[in-house]
Amino acid sequence: MKIYVTNVREDEVQFINAWQEAHGEHEVAYTTDMLTLETIQKLDGFDAVNILQLNQISTDVFGALANKGIHIMNLRNVGIDNLDLAAAKEFGFQVSNVPSYSPNAIAEHAVMLMMRALRRTPESDARIAAHDFRWAPTIARELRMQTVGVIGTGRIGRVVIDILQGFGAKVIVYDLHRSNADLEAQGLYVDTLDELYAQADIITLHMPETAANHHIINAATLAKMRPRTILVNVSRGGLVDVDAVLTALADGKLAFYALDTYEGEFGIFNADWRDKKLPDARLEQLLARPDVLVTPHIAFYTETAVSEMVNQSLDAGVAFYNGELPSQNVEL
Ligand code: COI
Repeated sequence: MKIYVTNVREDEVQFINAWQEAHGEHEVAYTTDMLTLETIQKLDGFDAVNILQLNQISTDVFGALANKGIHIMNLRNVGIDNLDLAAAKEFGFQVSNVPSYSPNAIAEHAVMLMMRALRRTPESDARIAAHDFRWAPTIARELRMQTVGVIGTGRIGRVVIDILQGFGAKVIVYDLHRSNADLEAQGLYVDTLDELYAQADIITLHMPETAANHHIINAATLAKMRPRTILVNVSRGGLVDVDAVLTALADGKLAFYALDTYEGEFGIFNADWRDKKLPDARLEQLLARPDVLVTPHIAFYTETAVSEMVNQSLDAGVAFYNGELPSQNVEL
């Protein structure tokens, strides 16, 4: 079969080439371009397209692919919020994602952000860079003394919990689907988000974004949190109303916001803006604050994860082509 891989980064090339070498019966072509109505012209004769979440796929794009006889789309990542799923179904697509490329990659990053927030590293790094080596005022808080509220107990949330317990933190968890017997046996679940907000010193989000949970963190929910709460978001920017967060930080209600995902990140994260003005005043506001830490959607970005993303997505494409249903299949 012929697979066209879009939006390819340099660090993915070695894994694509290795897969190609091991699968000589198939043909893989790749490009750094995103998949758009314009770049689709290059897909004549291909059977599948392999993309990343940073690429919004609209009805038009699904239609144009279907016109070329392409009905297989494989994502190299987990989130599918960039796809018009109704259009995918309408045009008869088979879609896969990579739900488990490395939950540890994301979980470790989330815990790292918590620890940086507790140690107040943005403040102390700035002072050290200015050759101010005094200790005060950035006295830290210890992780084992915190109650951490984990919202979402899927693969990633589960690893976050394990790591936090290793540090001796008290963990409480909330999930819409209270399906983890081990967490239930440990008595970690709270019944409502309000209970979690009332008890947690650190709140960390580990769920996909859906229409139902857009801006689940907003002025009303922030008001229910404890004073000095640290909020961590490595899931999706749209879960958090950033304006409400900025107000809560300014009012001293929220102690720290650490984010790896941002609602306006498309076109900004994973791009070089050093010599250009950022087109997003709110992001500028976040970056200017000592109680905010921004990382540009890099929680996933480890060697282990990238290798899995490439291999599993290409394998899933072949499975669809051969009439099989891979475990990465997305139910449409
Ligand atoms: C995901 O896997 O959904 C991510 O957020 C990683 C990124 C490459 C889009």
